[in-house]
Amino acid sequence: MIQRQKGCNDIFGREAKVWKYVDTVIDAMMEKYNYTYIRTPIIEATELFHRGIGDTTDIVTKESYDFEDKGGRKITLRPEGTAGVVRSFIENKMYGDPNQPVKVYYNGTMYRYERPQSGRDRELTQFGMEVLGSDDPLSDAEVISLAVNIYKMLGLKEIKVNINSLGDTESRLRYREALIKYFKPHIHELCEDCQERLEKNPLRILDCKVDAENEILKRAPRTLEYLNDESRDRFEKVQDYLDIMQIPYEINPSIVRGLDYYNHTVFEIEAKVEGFGSNNVLGGGGRYNGLVQQLDGPETPCVGFACGLGRLVKALELEEVKLPIQEGIDLFLLYVNEEEKQYAAYLAQELRLAGFIVETEYTGRALKGQFKQADRLNARYTCVLNSEDLNNNEVKIKDNRTKEEEIISLDVLIYYLDEKLNTNADDEYDECHCQGDHDCHCEGGEHECHCEECECEKE
Ligand code: HAM
Repeated sequence: MIQRQKGCNDIFGREAKVWKYVDTVIDAMMEKYNYTYIRTPIIEATELFHRGIGDTTDIVTKESYDFEDKGGRKITLRPEGTAGVVRSFIENKMYGDPNQPVKVYYNGTMYRYERPQSGRDRELTQFGMEVLGSDDPLSDAEVISLAVNIYKMLGLKEIKVNINSLGDTESRLRYREALIKYFKPHIHELCEDCQERLEKNPLRILDCKVDAENEILKRAPRTLEYLNDESRDRFEKVQDYLDIMQIPYEINPSIVRGLDYYNHTVFEIEAKVEGFGSNNVLGGGGRYNGLVQQLDGPETPCVGFACGLGRLVKALELEEVKLPIQEGIDLFLLYVNEEEKQYAAYLAQELRLAGFIVETEYTGRALKGQFKQADRLNARYTCVLNSEDLNNNEVKIKDNRTKEEEIISLDVLIYYLDEKLNTNADDEYDECHCQGDHDCHCEGGEHECHCEECECEKE
């Protein structure tokens, strides 16, 4: 049997519904912040990532899927979305659009050749957003608030925002020197890669996966002590805006991020739910003011964020967040003979076009088996088609909850189902998700609300 590749996942059944629902929430929230969707290719020139993410990062040196195509081009499967978006911004001259900043979001597959473990895959899906063309600290805060609001809208509660600043070029250089001075006497106690990193890029020692638990790393100098006044003021502005937006956060000076393009604000959002395990960073991002220029574009300040969808879905499961996912079908059409089957095909077509979720029998089951199948599919209504009723232009329809049966005219079937399914709306479908934080999006619909202060005031 051919098996899937290590670190790759098949997502199907209910889990796939959760993924699709998450996508709808991401789209809706991105729209609120006026981000437009961008799709860039999965394959890019290898050089883009070497120059963009950094030659000494783990992502480029150890984890990238590189190959030569049949034309001898050096190609890489994208390990993240930012570099591709920046390439596209430059190539399509988006910097010339009077509508600045350019605010885009994406949601797609990335590839990293990592040691697979829980929360660390080789094929991963990230959604992310990038703001290109704004140096305003408000943009940094808005990117953080957008990420938080997506988690909040999905119903996640146990999250923590950690922020830090790497400062501008001057501050980063000061910090680099401090790191070299600090690590030099201890360097032989660290892994071989770190020994190489010391002169090339000492910041990368701080996110070494091999030495992560080493006390030497834990006691290393912190970025904030090396910020110049301008960088410190800027970082304070970001915090002011977060306070104004009432986004809780903590300053965590150990955050440096694993990609080279960052400066000023960096941040990560952690899942705090019990049982998540060590790969609990749901997403991370920050400011990357030099990247556009580094990739041959005009000087453009940027900020962005990306989140792994696999980790997000895991957090939703562990927090047992109830999602408004349609679990069942509206109607199952049962039949015995060919004439009834043809009518089932006709009715299914009509009712699906009218917006209902309709199923029928495809495997030759007897009526008893069809009823069992309708139960397995959690059909709200069943309808046994029989030739006599059909000749009278009628159908017998059964409500599987109340077990009540009614004979109704075929002419009114659509209206009948519409009224039943929409006015007796499924509680689960319309359940309120404010969960007490008063950010209720139910808009007063029929639902069960457990929040005392919610304006919808529904029981
Ligand atoms: P990153 O921290 O490398 O940042 O990845 C962002 C998120 O992608 C991580 O927090 C995690 O949720 C998920 N992720 C990364 N690697 C894996 C993996 N092997 N398996 C599962 N999930 C994973 C970036 O990618 C930057 N491009 C973010 C950014 C956007 N910065 C500015 N703009």
